[in-house]
Amino acid sequence: MPFYSPLVQEHLRNPRNVGEMPGADAIGVDENPICGDVTWLWVKIQGDLIARVTFKTRGCPAAVATSSACTEMVTGMPLATARRLTAANLAQAVGGLPPAKVHCSVLAIGALHKALAAYERARHPGS
Ligand code: FES
Repeated sequence: MPFYSPLVQEHLRNPRNVGEMPGADAIGVDENPICGDVTWLWVKIQGDLIARVTFKTRGCPAAVATSSACTEMVTGMPLATARRLTAANLAQAVGGLPPAKVHCSVLAIGALHKALAAYERARHPGS
């Protein structure tokens, strides 16, 4: 069992914002082709802010915990800031991840970026 920070362990015990979001403005999905783990992430946008985020992860504990932490981190965040977030930002925000689990934080960030891109495409079709 890898060593997880107290915050990762807490998100594992009590994941936040889990489940599909009816009426979401966009969804993003990211999959790790090596392990097959998947994260779905729904976003609700108000103005230039991310108003609400929910997720579902079929994957390892680190992927679940970082997805949960990601939803808390980006709720209320300006879209421009969220677009610049990296997996390293997320891993740092949860107190770090064991080296073998750093890649697990990529799923949530990948799903977030895809959801925001889908939102932009829906707002500006044809651009
Ligand atoms: Fe697949 Fe963690 S082992 S995302």
